[in-house]
This record gives sequence, C-alpha cells and structure tokens, in this order.
Amino acid sequence: MPTFRAPRGTRDLLPDERAAFRRLESIASDLARRYGYREIETPIFEDAAVFERGVGAVTDVVEKELFRIARRTEEGESWALRPEPTAGIVRAYIEHGMQTWPQPVKLMMTGPMFRHDRPQAGRFRQFWQFDIEAIGDPGPAIDAEIIELGRTFYRLAGLDDVQVLLNSIGDAACRPAYVAALIAYYEPHAAQLPALERDRLHRNPLRLLDSKDPAMAELNGAAPRITDRLCAPCAAHFQAVQDHLHALDVGYRLEPGLVRGLDYYTRTAFEFFIPGREGGQQALGGGGRYDGLVELLGGRPTPGIGFGLGLDRIVLALQAREPARGVDAGGAAPVAVVVGADPEATAIRLKVATDLRAAGIAARADLSRRKLGKQFESAAKDRAHFVVIIGDELADGNVQLKDLEAGSQQLVALSDLARKLVSGERSHRHGGADH
Ligand code: HAM
Repeated sequence: MPTFRAPRGTRDLLPDERAAFRRLESIASDLARRYGYREIETPIFEDAAVFERGVGAVTDVVEKELFRIARRTEEGESWALRPEPTAGIVRAYIEHGMQTWPQPVKLMMTGPMFRHDRPQAGRFRQFWQFDIEAIGDPGPAIDAEIIELGRTFYRLAGLDDVQVLLNSIGDAACRPAYVAALIAYYEPHAAQLPALERDRLHRNPLRLLDSKDPAMAELNGAAPRITDRLCAPCAAHFQAVQDHLHALDVGYRLEPGLVRGLDYYTRTAFEFFIPGREGGQQALGGGGRYDGLVELLGGRPTPGIGFGLGLDRIVLALQAREPARGVDAGGAAPVAVVVGADPEATAIRLKVATDLRAAGIAARADLSRRKLGKQFESAAKDRAHFVVIIGDELADGNVQLKDLEAGSQQLVALSDLARKLVSGERSHRHGGADH
C-alpha cells in the first residue's frame, strides 16, 4: 500500500491514456480552427461568485459540488476551482471588452474542471472538457452549427453513433408561467415524492423533470411539457433550429424532459448520448443557449451558446468498444540510439544524441556504462530503427550506423549522420523508396 495516493475521484493519466486525451485535444483544436473558434485559457480558479451567480447558487454543481478554496483574498472574496468553463469565459468576455470585437466572439478551451461529486465510473472530481462558446449571436442558425460541430467531433473521435437529444427550455417571457404550472402539477403529489425531489420542488422545480429516480418516471411522463408552452418567439426559434439541423442532415431526438443542470440556459438545450444510455446519468456532452448570462455577470445584454464535451467519458467509451482505441500505446520509440564500444565514454554519446535531437531526430544516448552488447539489447527493446556506434573510427570523424530493421551497417561521417538518419527514416516511412 503506497503512502500517498491521488485524491479520491481523481486519477493520474499515465502516458498511454494521456496520449488518448492528446489525440482528442488535437481533433478538437483542428475542428475549432476550421469552424472559426480561437483558443482561450481562463484561470482554473475564479471568484466563487462567478459560479454562484453564473451557474446558479441552488444548482448541485455550486451548492453541493463546488471546490471552495479556504484562503480568502484581501478583498474578502472567496475563490473556487472551476466546475465548468462557461461562467469564467463569459467573465473574461466582459472584463476584456469583447463586446467591441466583431460578433459573435467564438472561443474554445480544453482543460480540467472540478466537481466534488460522489465518484463512480465516468464521474470524477477532476475531469476534462472540450468547450466551445459563441457569444453575441442570437441564433437560430448558429445553434444548429454548434450541434453539428459536436456531432462531427464525436465522429472523428471514433464514436459514429452518438445521439443528439434536443429541447427548448424557453426564456424569461415564458418559463415562469411554465415553472408555476409544474409546481402546481407536482404539489398534490409532494408527500409521495422522494426526499431529494421534494426538496427541489420549490427550489429548482425544473430539475424534477430529469430526475433519475425510477419512482418519478410515471409522474414525469404526464408532467406539463415546456415545448407546449413556449412563447411565440421561443417556439419560432426552436422550430428554426430544427429546420437548420434537417438542412445539415443532423439527426436528433426531441426530449421534453431535458432541462440541464446549470441555471443559465435559455431556449436551446441539447445533450449527446451513446445510444441506449439516454436514460442514465452519463451524458457524453451537453450545452445550450444562455442569452441572459452576460448580463447576469455584469455585461450588456448579449446572447450566447456553447457546449462542453467530457473527454474522460469519450476515452472510456472508446476503451469499452475497442480496448486498443482508448489508449495510444504508440509510445516514444527513438529513431536512433547512440551506443559506444567504451562503456565509460558517456559524454561523447550524449553529445552525438544532443546534436541529433537539435537536427529534429528522436535520439537516445545509452548512458548506462554497460557493455556494448547490453547497450544493443536495450536499443532493440526500445524498438529503435538505427543504432549509432561510437568506436575507434571516431578518431577519423566517423561512426558506424546500423539499421536494425534492414540488418545493414555502414561507416558514416559524423558530420553527415543527421542527414543520413533523416533520409533513412523517410524512405522507411515511404515503404522503401527514397525520395
Ligand atoms: P455539463 O453538462 O455540466 O455542462 O458538463 C458537460 C459534460 O462534462 C458532461 O456531459 C460530461 O461529459 C462532462 N462531465 C460533467 N461532470 C463530470 C464528472 N464529474 N466527471 C466526468 N465528466 C463530467 C457544462 O459544463 C456547460 N458548461 C456546457 C456548456 C458550455 N453550455 C454552454 N456552453
């Protein structure tokens, strides 16, 4: 039993798994560039009020799961680790006057988020998201564009069959009457509601709709539907989002119970699921429109929409389907390992490897002071393509270059070594033809 372990709900991403995350990050950044999003980085912690006000003080994410930092600032505000990126990005949008930039401002971020939830499979206290935000466009076309972007990301990641669940949750004009109708509907049943749901009935009644408690299924099935009670502008917006999705050939399923767990949403709300898992807790990703958030955090009224896709859950889904897919065991095999006849002459081996690296070649010097035979064995274990042997020829400025894959060996001038390795490696990659 080790003395120290990673904190509960967190884990180390060892190199194979980190490579799988890196692959997703590079798909994300390539897609973001193609769709006109530029990368932003906000601090991992913020004034807790950014989340309390932005995400909502009575959401689970803030009320129960926020990692608060014990230390307070001189000004008396308190900090918290970000449970999600949207509130911080909107804070940055306002702080840096981005409303004067051409709108919409399209931003992307990947990075770790923190929620102090009960850990279980697919639910961590530190997890990673690919986040997209388009601030300053009221939609509806961009709503569809963002949903299509999410679906394309999953396809490129290797999950072809991810399903889109779609809903509209109205706005300040139509939602209050709907919420009142919802409370009136549940209230006669209050005594039978599970404790959590009874507690939510007046504090956050929309959340009852996506309760995962089986005892709620029947009651929720007959609950009033927000989509029957949207005001005319919200209904038109919702229809237009669907028309645009049809035009883009993006399939989706209407899900009137989809309300999302964060308070800032208005109108369009969506989630991505693996087919067959729609009923569970584990959305692969989700997002929606937040037309009131910029104003709520102190900016001018500005519409916005975005998504957050959980990278951990994608890696898990890929691993579950095809164990080799979720990890990337490609590793870091060196092109060349520099070995020497004189085990003690580590300085010259290190110097040759350093020069090769400067020329862009992945090289390792054997620094072990073991006999030459052992140095060769370890180069083969490393799956190196070439071994550079430093021996007596060095007096004339030469080394032996052995191609482990071809089994051939030649004398090469040290000054010509990097060029030889680059062309040898290139012809190897192109199936033998040296271009
Ligand atoms: P969210 O639905 O709270 O939305 O989180 C988005 C995704 O992050 C989830 O679908 C899930 O894949 C992943 N996720 C959340 N919590 C955990 C956890 N504890 N462990 C592992 N993965 C998790 C947001 O965060 C919004 N900011 C999305 C958004 C952006 N809306 C507008 N713009």
